[in-house]
Amino acid sequence: MTITEPAWAKLNLTLDILGKRPDGYHDLRMVMQSIDLCDMVSITFKERRGITLVTNLNYLPRDNSNIAVKAAELFFQETGIPPVGLTIRVDKHIPVAAGMAGGSSDGAAVLRLLRRALAPELPDRALEAMALQVGSDVPYCVRGGTALAEGRGEVLTDLPALPDCFLVVCKPSFPISTPELFAQVRLRQLRCHPDTAGLSTALYNGDLSGVCRRVYNVFEDMLPRKYREVGEIKRQLMDLDAAAACMTGSGPTVFGVFTDEAMARQASEQLRQEYPQTFLTRPVGRCAPADKCG
Ligand code: C5P
Repeated sequence: MTITEPAWAKLNLTLDILGKRPDGYHDLRMVMQSIDLCDMVSITFKERRGITLVTNLNYLPRDNSNIAVKAAELFFQETGIPPVGLTIRVDKHIPVAAGMAGGSSDGAAVLRLLRRALAPELPDRALEAMALQVGSDVPYCVRGGTALAEGRGEVLTDLPALPDCFLVVCKPSFPISTPELFAQVRLRQLRCHPDTAGLSTALYNGDLSGVCRRVYNVFEDMLPRKYREVGEIKRQLMDLDAAAACMTGSGPTVFGVFTDEAMARQASEQLRQEYPQTFLTRPVGRCAPADKCG
């Protein structure tokens, strides 16, 4: 039997860092949004025990340093369900080390698939608690849609859907390491913080321009000079008439928000000439909760 799920990429409409925690992580406040750029994750149950990972990107790890494998191992450990043999197939389309939670989203898809097949009664909260042990963004990726994420990223509040728009997503050729960027955070040097409450209110009012005015990521303020291409892509998006442009997560991917499809298409075609990993995307809603999946 093979079952498949899309693993949606995410964008940060806001990302704020509130403080350093005793456990070494940071307290965050972010508005997250799923987009229709996705990896496809499938699970095939097999006779022989053990977990095999197959992927179209041969440089990705295939042991439990890959989040998809780690998630499967954790699922059996935490539910107490005796481990069965699995082949996990991950067809990657989301750029790697890009700030779009590609790996976290694959792990979340594995958790949703295993729940669907082996433990359909497992509530969302339990799956999300498991997900936090896999990574800070994984609980959000389990549910997706539009959500406020606080704490390490696991304290989730659903928000009204982002009003329909077009999101041009552009990944420059270099990666940025998330732990490396977090290590550079100097809280007292952060000059600006996003108005996350105002952005949430704009979502409640279905006010896309109110959202666009408040899109902001504090990491942009502390990017080393070697990553200045991020600012250049932002400027290009604004020159191409984006209503807002911002880096997502720990970067380096930048997205632009457009209300007009033709303008978004033109912007994505223009940027793609220089940056092959440019995508024209749209927002996606929440994944089906536990009682609706299967
Ligand atoms: O949880 P995850 O393994 O995805 O986090 C990757 C790294 O990002 C952590 O090792 C940590 O350096 C940083 N991080 C953080 N605070 C968070 C989330 C991530 O400092 N809330």
